[in-house]
Amino acid sequence: MRIAVIGTGYVGLVSGACFSEFGTSVVCVDKDASKIERINRGEMPIYEPGLDDLVARNVKEGRLEFSTDLAASVKGVDAVFIAVGTPSRRGDGHADLSYVFAAAEEIAKALDGYAAIVTKSTVPVGTGRKVAEVVMKARPDLELGRDFDVVSNPEFLREGSAIEDFMRPDRVVVGTLDGATRGREVMRALYRPLALIEKPVLFTALETAEVIKYAANCFLATKITFINEMANLCEQVGADVQDVAKGIGLDNRIGNKFLHAGPGYGGSCFPKDCLALVKTARDAGAPIRIVESVIEVNEGRKVDMARRIVDALGGDAKGKRVGLLGLTFKPNTDDMRDSPSLAIVPALLEAGASIRAYDPEGMHEAQKLLSGIEYAADAYDALKDADVLVFCTEWNQFRSLDWTRVRQAMPGRIIVDLRNIYDPTRVAREGFTYHSIGRKA
Ligand code: UGA
Repeated sequence: MRIAVIGTGYVGLVSGACFSEFGTSVVCVDKDASKIERINRGEMPIYEPGLDDLVARNVKEGRLEFSTDLAASVKGVDAVFIAVGTPSRRGDGHADLSYVFAAAEEIAKALDGYAAIVTKSTVPVGTGRKVAEVVMKARPDLELGRDFDVVSNPEFLREGSAIEDFMRPDRVVVGTLDGATRGREVMRALYRPLALIEKPVLFTALETAEVIKYAANCFLATKITFINEMANLCEQVGADVQDVAKGIGLDNRIGNKFLHAGPGYGGSCFPKDCLALVKTARDAGAPIRIVESVIEVNEGRKVDMARRIVDALGGDAKGKRVGLLGLTFKPNTDDMRDSPSLAIVPALLEAGASIRAYDPEGMHEAQKLLSGIEYAADAYDALKDADVLVFCTEWNQFRSLDWTRVRQAMPGRIIVDLRNIYDPTRVAREGFTYHSIGRKA
């Protein structure tokens, strides 16, 4: 089998590398020549545990290559995966599909034999059919089902565990247009290694696969937002949200995952996908009001986290020094997109505080987005002269701080833990006033 993957962003690069690990010949294509050069030198454009080794091994063994030449790369392939970006369009929140359609047109012009054209990017319902139209317009000589098929194969990769998620997924979803027998066979063959470990591949209609992707992400965002609001209630009535999550999560119908209360979800997927689903649903005359509320509650929550920090400082942050640990939207990534810190930091600055921050992988990205704060060399350095220590992201290295060093670094004795990474009694024993989420202060 041979495939091309268009776009070496997060999804494209991880998927391309993992397919090559399955034994398929893969060429990953990107227009950005400097990016391709860097990857060829072994420098990954994103931080993802294990990715550099995976890429290096498969390149060395001749199954994985990188190119800027789309036309040459799609010659003779069984499938072309479109994994280009679909950012939220400025102004109306719809997913911007111009990169997807541009890629589809370029692929069509270069096709020299049958290929399945597969959308891996997260695209609104109906996009697959439009991709088919774009292809047929660019190449009226091509016949759907004979010369190409259009397939939707959404990804369910979590940043930080993307390789494991690809290699051992809960399921693979493949949507095709009626009669796309060859398209289905190509996809079945590509994912054959998963059949050996009994991972299900679910074949559906094209539109169904597109809906599954959004439904999954929006459901998870709803689950998180639900537990976050439960946390607010717990704080008011003296309950413990961690135990509430455990107590409901042990019910198999609910499940224990994605019930960790925090400062609100962020990242490149949940915020964007919730917005896009809400728009699609409104346009279709079937509004999904629960997701509309989720978006509103989550946005408000991020800003409200800054208020909690000010409250912990006695209601006035003017002249106060904040030591902030964690800037990325979650651990094991350098991704800052829609991170809660992007709402919290400006609100704290506005309230008159000064901030010294540290993140194990996100400093480079953060510096592009957050100005007016100091960046520290490590966690203890971030606490220098701090009145309050704030945990914003639950990196493992923050879970076992040396309390003697913390006390030496910061004169303040206040901790605001937005990720509940510490045991309240333990921190109190160390002499700190500890505020966390959904538990007694
Ligand atoms: C998410 C989905 O989990 C993937 O299945 C999906 O493929 C991906 O989006 C995508 O569409 O590409 P990701 O954005 O990498 O993956 O990160 P998650 O681990 O899902 O976390 C998202 C946000 O929710 C983070 O800000 C995280 O801190 C927050 N979260 C997650 C919580 O606040 N509580 C939880 O219990 C879980």
